[in-house]
Amino acid sequence: MDEPADNSRGRTSSTSSLPTGEGIVIDIGTGDGTFVYESALRNPKKFFIGIDASARPLEKISEKIHRSPRKGGAPNALFLEAAVERLPDELYGVADEVYVQFPWGSLLSAVILPDAEVLRAIRRICASGASLGVVVSIDPRRDAGEMNRLGIGPISVEHIDRVLAPRYRVAGFEIRERAQLDRWNSSNLLSSWARRLSASSGRVVHAWMADAIETPSS
Ligand SMILES: C[S@@+](CC[C@H](N)C(=O)[O-])C[C@H]1O[C@@H](n2cnc3c(N)ncnc32)[C@H](O)[C@@H]1O
Repeated sequence: MDEPADNSRGRTSSTSSLPTGEGIVIDIGTGDGTFVYESALRNPKKFFIGIDASARPLEKISEKIHRSPRKGGAPNALFLEAAVERLPDELYGVADEVYVQFPWGSLLSAVILPDAEVLRAIRRICASGASLGVVVSIDPRRDAGEMNRLGIGPISVEHIDRVLAPRYRVAGFEIRERAQLDRWNSSNLLSSWARRLSASSGRVVHAWMADAIETPSS
């Protein structure tokens, strides 16, 4: 039988004591946990942690991961209730990959404005050489009220290069790839909101990938 897909980079977090030893993935603002759950099933050698400020949407999936693997259990997945502004100290230095996908509210403004404190908090949970992937989807017409409330302007590749790149660098992340995804393939992203939003034609999706770098403050 073929090995399940595993996008491991063959390197583990320095503090990892996982028996699988293939890396720890943290999804911040995980929502209903679909990305973590589906990724855990596809990548059994990695450990996935989904974090969200709101625990309620995670109730079902938190029960499901504890079933036996034959009945849909995922022993390599875990969910935590926490706001990005107050990530548990136990996570410091553990993540090999961090994702923030389709954030809203304070999480959205943190990655787009960006909020230096929150970026540094995300950097603190990263192991050396970790990667950060962010996917943001905005409908300039429908989301206008929320964008105004959060003080967010239109997102563009130019905004990523001119505003985000230098601020991410100060917080300990070097943005190495960024793109506007015109025809984004939601099925690759695995999350519930990816599927839900892909049906909405007015949405503009941007994604950027960054590497954790050393800074004087990190
Ligand atoms: C649109 S949902 C996206 C959920 C999931 N990432 C997905 O793609 O299906 C945004 C999520 O961000 C979470 N969120 C918003 N602000 C947050 C914060 N400050 N810290 C942690 N999670 C937050 C919300 O509770 C919500 O579950």
